[in-house]
Amino acid sequence: MAFDFDTPISRQNTGCCKWDDLQQVFGRTDVLPLWVADMDFSAPPGVTAALKARLEHPVYGYHTREKPLFESVANWEKKRHGWQVELEWLMNAPGVVPSISAAILAFTEPGDEIIIQPPVYPPFSACVKNNNRRLVENPLIEDSGRYTPDLEDLKRKITPRTKLLILCSPHNPVGRVWTRDELLTLNEICLNHGVTVISDEIHCDLAFSGHRHIPTAALGEAIARNTVAMISPSKTFNIAGTYTSFVVIPDAGKRRKFAQTIEALKIGAGNLFGIIAAEAAYRTGEAWLDELLPYLEANAGYLAEYVRQNLPGVKVVKPEGTYLAWLDFRGVSGDPAYLQELLLNRAKVGLNDGAAYGHGGAGFARLNFACSRSLLQEGLVRIEQALKNR
Ligand SMILES: Cc1ncc(COP(=O)(O)O)c(C=O)c1O
Repeated sequence: MAFDFDTPISRQNTGCCKWDDLQQVFGRTDVLPLWVADMDFSAPPGVTAALKARLEHPVYGYHTREKPLFESVANWEKKRHGWQVELEWLMNAPGVVPSISAAILAFTEPGDEIIIQPPVYPPFSACVKNNNRRLVENPLIEDSGRYTPDLEDLKRKITPRTKLLILCSPHNPVGRVWTRDELLTLNEICLNHGVTVISDEIHCDLAFSGHRHIPTAALGEAIARNTVAMISPSKTFNIAGTYTSFVVIPDAGKRRKFAQTIEALKIGAGNLFGIIAAEAAYRTGEAWLDELLPYLEANAGYLAEYVRQNLPGVKVVKPEGTYLAWLDFRGVSGDPAYLQELLLNRAKVGLNDGAAYGHGGAGFARLNFACSRSLLQEGLVRIEQALKNR
């Protein structure tokens, strides 16, 4: 192994939200943090080298480096996902969540309806509500811990006021890497009803063996013209703090509209270090990612097996991608307050409360397993002991 994911690295006192904000987030500092979606691993060495090299020049003024940056993104998408991204389709953005809000402003009016598929990443609903649009939920169907889209419900929910669907592909928190058939059917429904699809593909590079991420806009030309895709190196290479992402819009009309909004908000320039980190990650990070993925997948398998053997009443299905596990604690207690007390104050683990993920989330907790195996094990042992001693 050329890269070490196994030796824990202390992140305390680095101004890191996952480890340094425990008091604010959980009300105590002795919690093992397995929550917010970044990894406890060093970024690929090529990223650190590129940042260091740039720091050698001590002037950090306005920058311009769009073409090589966009080329690195397009090459990556082609190589990893077989998706031909034209450079003119690409736009720079300071993150996927700001891009979702910008898309809501660009493509909808106040009062328009926007569909999400809970349980899902909480900022989806927040972006809709904060921009005074109407949230419509098309909950996923759960069957023995495996989730699928409810396409019949989707058809029923679409009205003439429905303008957007925000798709999470792969899905946070349920860990599905959607199949071609699932994506095709969903996108055809949206296309036929004039509903533009915002495709949040931030977890696209984190699919495990036997599963393949399919970019929404690679499903065909008509679907591509109906898609506003959002990609980012932040999850893949653990550089979320550099706030750099990309919006890919194949349709020229939609691109113009989105560009007007980005221009009105003045958020398209990107920041110097984010741009350097992103380009270095896409150009030099592949070997690192190819070692990271089996490590994450082994953690996922370890976690699923540990839960099965040692955590009575808890269920989990090994995720198909992402580094997030969606733990079902409904067999332990139907009372969310008790669950919170158990996990936080007795087990002393900091997980994300499932209730925040909307419909179908109560009684679940999300666990981030992008950490060394020993840390993951410690978290699971803590939960096991709390369950035994209750
Ligand atoms: C599905 C999804 N979208 C977006 C984000 C955050 O993106 P950004 O930090 O680029 O706004 C996350 C982070 O966890 C996520 O899981």
